Amino acid sequence: MNQEHLIKKAFEAMENAYAPYSNYHVGACLLLKNGTEILGANVENASFGATCCAERNAIFHAYSLGYRKDDMEAIAIVSDGKYLAGPCGICRQVFSELFPQKAPIILSNKIETKVTNIDDLLPLQFGIKDVL
Ligand code: THU
Repeated sequence: MNQEHLIKKAFEAMENAYAPYSNYHVGACLLLKNGTEILGANVENASFGATCCAERNAIFHAYSLGYRKDDMEAIAIVSDGKYLAGPCGICRQVFSELFPQKAPIILSNKIETKVTNIDDLLPLQFGIKDVL
């Protein structure tokens, strides 16, 4: 896994963000174990709740193509914000179910980079075990 390459691809994906309301642009590059890279950008809506985050778009696209969490190796998420931002709460819940617990989640904003995972980002996870 080439961290710098994933970050670069995520910044390229960020160029496609549709964010006329927040003007906050986010890009994601999801790396699969087979080397496939799946990109995502945030897409907003005048009905704000209909907005979808960059990382969720990438993960959902991967699932739509038939990939599952065991196929996933890492994800880079970048923004043009002043501060290094972690994924929002909804995205953490999505990662909890659809992304491997210990796989690297690489966060960057051109100023700094941090690597974490969903196990650390979301303690006491609610998931499949609780409802099945
Ligand atoms: N956003 C993301 O794409 N990912 C996150 O993890 C945090 C927030 C987007 C959603 C919205 O388009 C904009 O950033 C401001 O909230």
